[in-house]
Amino acid sequence: MDFLTNKWIVYLALCLFFTGVCCNSVENKIYIKLNYTMPCVRLLNATHQIGCQSSLSGDVGVLHVLESEENLDWVLRTGLHPPYMVILESPLFTRSIMMKLKNGSRRVAGVAVVAPNVNPPQGFSAHTSCPNENSGVYSENYGPGLAHCNTTVWNPLGNGLSYEEFDFPIFSLKDDNDTQLIRQCYVDHNRPMNGSDPQYPLCAMQLFSHMSAVTNTATCMRRNSISFSISPEGVCDPLSDHNIWAPAKPLNTTEKGHKVGERVVLATARLDSRSFFSDIGPGAESAASGLVTLLAAAHALRNATQEAQLDRTIFYTFFHGETFDYIGSSRIVYDMEKNQFPIDLDNIHSVLEIGQVCLGNLVSIFSLSDCIPALRSGSTQTLSPGETEAQMKRFDYAVQINTIT
Ligand SMILES: *[C@@H]1O[C@H](CO)[C@@H](O)[C@H](O)[C@H]1NC(C)=O
Ligand SMILES: *[C@@H]1O[C@H](CO)[C@@H](O)[C@H](O)[C@H]1NC(C)=O
Ligand SMILES: *[C@@H]1O[C@H](CO)[C@@H](O)[C@H](O)[C@H]1NC(C)=O
Ligand SMILES: *[C@@H]1O[C@H](CO)[C@@H](O)[C@H](O)[C@H]1NC(C)=O
Ligand SMILES: *[C@@H]1O[C@H](CO)[C@@H](O)[C@H](O)[C@H]1NC(C)=O
Ligand SMILES: *[C@@H]1O[C@H](CO)[C@@H](O)[C@H](O)[C@H]1NC(C)=O
Ligand SMILES: *[C@@H]1O[C@H](CO)[C@@H](O)[C@H](O)[C@H]1NC(C)=O
Ligand SMILES: *[C@@H]1O[C@H](CO)[C@@H](O)[C@H](O)[C@H]1NC(C)=O
Repeated sequence: MDFLTNKWIVYLALCLFFTGVCCNSVENKIYIKLNYTMPCVRLLNATHQIGCQSSLSGDVGVLHVLESEENLDWVLRTGLHPPYMVILESPLFTRSIMMKLKNGSRRVAGVAVVAPNVNPPQGFSAHTSCPNENSGVYSENYGPGLAHCNTTVWNPLGNGLSYEEFDFPIFSLKDDNDTQLIRQCYVDHNRPMNGSDPQYPLCAMQLFSHMSAVTNTATCMRRNSISFSISPEGVCDPLSDHNIWAPAKPLNTTEKGHKVGERVVLATARLDSRSFFSDIGPGAESAASGLVTLLAAAHALRNATQEAQLDRTIFYTFFHGETFDYIGSSRIVYDMEKNQFPIDLDNIHSVLEIGQVCLGNLVSIFSLSDCIPALRSGSTQTLSPGETEAQMKRFDYAVQINTIT
């Protein structure tokens, strides 16, 4: 996804506090800038803001390397030099600890998480346990018994941290020599010895990830339209990117709207994934596995679909932004409804989505088809605006393929 990359600046420094003051004139001698850092960013939806940011000039706090959850007491209550900049080793990056830090945010200047060099064996997910819960096919109006992951919790490891709002900056640090330096500085200067408070000079850290986006999408886009002479960049950017689609046989794409006699099978996969820290969402076991599978299928079927005169056209479609309430597929449905797409919804015979056909211990492959009779009889019903994903129910078949391990 195109994030707000030019809207915030990543700046991170480590400095020694001499009686609490950092002198700019000797900045280069006392600051160490860290190069491999990744912030958690501010995201807005129609009603809420989530994610993190720093204050305008960055947040500074005394370094505290958290050793265990019990050790939080020092940060939240007993330590004499708040606010603290908390360094978390990855096993301590849990919902429980993060929510305690969020609650005690007056004493927390920021959090830096040391990214592990190997994946945690037990897995980790900062998404919710029921991803895109409010924008999926099933809702109170359609299959309420299946809505809100009632029968299957799709992402049991999900701790929902990506959907929390933090009022301090949170960064991910690469576990390298610089990170080692931070740990060493803590051990040398800041570590409480025998329960007594350490004295100045202390090591401190500054995290800078200020973002101007506030409140919700409507507010932010409105402010965007008022031009600020000081900041030419504007306040926020919409999440945007491109869907990619290709029909298996040539189709007149200049002509939009319904194509008489055209029956289309939409074969789809996702292009994106997300993570707590922006720009590092490799999605190897989720989005990438489906994407590669669909590309391989397109390659394998290429000659066959050209030789045989099929009475249906396969549309290979790759949606972007699905992680964010299905913005990619919603957009295509919207375009079809407005006759801005080479085909319309009535041309669609069926939809096949390749989901997570993951790597690792591949146990079995599941095909999930809509089990609500209304779908198979092809009946249509009136949909409320915004329920675009639910449009899929108008087609004769909708099948999603996943592996569940
Ligand atoms: C960080 O990047 C700057 C500029 O590229 C470089 O001068 C500096 O040595 C780097 N620092 C470390 C610790 O690698
Ligand atoms: C916006 O996000 C918040 C937090 O995840 C959620 O509670 C709320 O329902 C979302 N609003 C909309 C309109 O989707
Ligand atoms: C948040 O902190 C207050 C005291 O600052 C405490 O009374 C309350 O129990 C805490 N809430 C949670 C959910 O930890
Ligand atoms: C699942 O949905 C059914 C039917 O709406 C309801 O009776 C049941 O309580 C729900 N279960 C959960 C765990 O929400
Ligand atoms: C990290 O430190 C070790 C030992 O001091 C050194 O051998 C290594 O080259 C350093 N790595 C980087 C990337 O600077
Ligand atoms: C901490 O206490 C132990 C035993 O009471 C003592 O040997 C040690 O020197 C103390 N360390 C410091 C830094 O005061
Ligand atoms: C595609 O449709 C446009 C608009 O109807 C038409 O002008 C054009 O000739 C068509 N192209 C082909 C190759 O049929
Ligand atoms: C498709 O046909 C071409 C030419 O006949 C051949 O070179 C190619 O290997 C075939 N591809 C597949 C995937 O069978």
